[in-house]
Amino acid sequence: MELTVHTETPYKIRIERGCLDQLGTECAALFPPGARAAVISDSQVFPLYGDRCLASLEASGFSPSSFVFPAGEASKQLSTVGEMLGFLAEQGLTRSDFLVALGGGVTGDMAGFAAACYLRGIRFVQVPTSLLAQVDSSVGGKTAVDLPQGKNLAGAFHQPALVLMDPDVLDTLPPLFWVDGMGEVIKYGCIRSRALFQAIRQSGPMESILYQCVNIKRQLVEADERDNGQRMLLNFGHTLGHALEKVHCYTGLTHGAAVGVGMVKMAALGEAMGLTEPGTAGEIRRLLQACRLPTEDTSPLEEVLAAVTLDKKGTGEKLRIVLLRRLGEGFLYTLPREEFFRLCRQHLLPE
Ligand code: GLY
Repeated sequence: MELTVHTETPYKIRIERGCLDQLGTECAALFPPGARAAVISDSQVFPLYGDRCLASLEASGFSPSSFVFPAGEASKQLSTVGEMLGFLAEQGLTRSDFLVALGGGVTGDMAGFAAACYLRGIRFVQVPTSLLAQVDSSVGGKTAVDLPQGKNLAGAFHQPALVLMDPDVLDTLPPLFWVDGMGEVIKYGCIRSRALFQAIRQSGPMESILYQCVNIKRQLVEADERDNGQRMLLNFGHTLGHALEKVHCYTGLTHGAAVGVGMVKMAALGEAMGLTEPGTAGEIRRLLQACRLPTEDTSPLEEVLAAVTLDKKGTGEKLRIVLLRRLGEGFLYTLPREEFFRLCRQHLLPE
C-alpha cells in the first residue's frame, strides 16, 4: 500500500510487510548513485534491523555509515544531536547525501532535527519501528529535542523524503510499547473515523488499521502543514495527557496511556457541556480497557491543572482543546484557560 503526502515537497509512504529490505531500491529512486547515507538508530533497534538496512543500502550502491545512541527519552537532547551533527561532518556528508532514521519516535524526532540543521537542511528517510512512530511521529515533519524545561521545546518542521513502514517489525515490539501505540491508534478513530474505531474493536487486520491511521494523518498534515488549525485535532486527549505525563514525571504512565485517560476525560467533559453525544466517553473507555490501557488516574486534579499551564497550543489566556461531536467527529474549541479549569473542577472529579 502506498500514500503520497502532498506537502510543499511531496513524499511517499509505503506500508508493506518486508519492505525494510527495499530501503536501498526505494532510496535509489530519490538520491544520486553512490550517495552517502547515515543510518541513525538507537542501541535497542540497531541490533535488530541495522544490518538489514545497511545491506540494502549497500546493495543499491550507496555508502552507508551508522550512528547509534543509547535508547530512551533521556537521549533526546541537544547534546545527542550535537554528537550526531559532528558525526555527519566527520563522514563528510553533503547536501546530496541523506540520513535514515531507523527506530521509534525518539530516533525519528532527533534524526529529523539533525537533518533540518545539518548544512541548513539535508534530506532524510523515516523507517519507523514502533507503532507510535508508524501511526504518528514519522509522518508530518515534526522534529524536536527535549529541553530541561520541557518536552519537544526545540525543533523544526522538516518533512521526510520517504517513509518506509514495515508492519513485520512491530512483531518484535515489547507488549508495553504495543499497548502504548494503541492509545494513538484509538485516537484516530475518535477524531475522524467511526469505522476505524469499530475495526479496532473487532481486532481488524493491523495493516489496514495502520493504513487508515496514516491516511487520516496525511489528510490533516496536507490541510495544515504548520499545525495552526485542523492538524491540532491530533491533540485529542493530549492537553490532559501531557499534563498527566508531567505529574508522573514521565515515568510509570506511558504517553499512550496518558492520552487514553485524557481522551476519556475530554469526551466526558464534552458530554457535560452538552457538545458531545451522550455515551461517547463510555465507548472510548471500553475500547481502551479492551486494549489494556488505563482509563482513570488518581493524580490530584489541581496538580494536573497546574501542569496544563505550559501549553504550546494555547494563545495567551485562551486554550484550544479538542472535543468530539460524536465518535469519529472531532472539532477544535477555544475557551479561556480559567473556564477550562472551572469545567474540569466541576465535571472531572475521579469516579
Ligand atoms: N503528533 C501530532 C502531529 O504531528 O501534529
